[in-house]
Amino acid sequence: MTMNDTFLKACRGEKTDYTPMWLMRQAGRYLPEYQKVRGSVSFLELCKSPELCVEVTLQPIDILGVDAAILFSDILIPMEAMGLPLEFHEGRGPVFPKTVRDRAALDRLIVPDPGETMGFVMETIRLLRKELRVPLIGFAGAPFTCATYLIEGGSSKVFWETKKMMYTAPELFHGLMEKITETTSRYLLAQARAGAQALQLFDSWAGILAPADFAEFALPYAKRIIADLQQTGLPIIYFANNGATLLEYSAASGADVIGLDWRINIGDAIKRVGNRAVQGNIDPFALLLPKEKLKERIKRLLDDAREAKGHIFNLGHGIHQFTPPEQARFAVDTVHELSSR
Ligand code: CP3
Repeated sequence: MTMNDTFLKACRGEKTDYTPMWLMRQAGRYLPEYQKVRGSVSFLELCKSPELCVEVTLQPIDILGVDAAILFSDILIPMEAMGLPLEFHEGRGPVFPKTVRDRAALDRLIVPDPGETMGFVMETIRLLRKELRVPLIGFAGAPFTCATYLIEGGSSKVFWETKKMMYTAPELFHGLMEKITETTSRYLLAQARAGAQALQLFDSWAGILAPADFAEFALPYAKRIIADLQQTGLPIIYFANNGATLLEYSAASGADVIGLDWRINIGDAIKRVGNRAVQGNIDPFALLLPKEKLKERIKRLLDDAREAKGHIFNLGHGIHQFTPPEQARFAVDTVHELSSR
């Protein structure tokens, strides 16, 4: 079994034969094959069944021809393990019926042993490594993004409760960030021991913060996790969504690869992140373009990224659930074809 290590080489800034590609949220509802598995179990049951997680992780590898696999799980799994019951409601997304908004709730949170509480994740990783011929990415949410879910009790648009805590009870906010950070470090180290070959931190909500607030309330914690992970020797990817104004800070996180959303030209971003590889950054909706237009856009992006220390082609955020899989496959083939050297 030959191993395709193009993705890992690009993460490390080594020369590759072509630009590797994977898609954020590549396993999911846009695939009929995923919907079939999901038809008989709830999302959380799926996340906790290693055999099914293996199946849906593998689906996009063959269907799309991508150069990396990402563990099928969710960033909120370790938050549930900290002691806060988690639910997923159809059409509304994640819900924490109990929130963390005061000292008593913070004190009740535990820093869980990942093997005891999330053994199903490590089991999924071990099983996947026996099947895969592309590298396996493990992941977690970055502490700020995880904190918003615990404080708000789910997804949010204005983040009133989160910002209220940051500005009126900063010691409480920092206390919560400490516990999430410790949990996340231990969780990602356990993923590495189980066999993950790269680790990505998703900071989906970083972009709601003013740069100075990002530097004070979010970045130090992501940085601490990344420092803890250096001992694994694995490439670390940090993705701050909507983070074009935060790029210098993101680069200061210490990550080997900086994830980019689509709101910035990739060439401009490369100048700002210094000696680091980048991952991104086509608008997920560009997959709806007619093929010729999509191809032109991919060519432009590859050209704009030519000065990168390393480039992993990806979407600027997760693939949308109504994207035709066939268009995603065309994008992967086109990236491979246009970038082959
Ligand atoms: O293929 C992959 O990328 C691996 C699996 C993965 C999922 N979630 C599966 C999932 C990954 C890496 C995530 C990360 C995640 N989860 C993030 C960060 C990335 C991002 O998109 O910004 C966030 C914020 C979450 C929290 C979350 N999980 C939300 C807000 C939702 C509901 C919104 C939505 O897209 O449905 C989920 C549910 C979820 N996570 C689904 C999947 C496949 C859909 C669940 C279903 O089958 O109904």
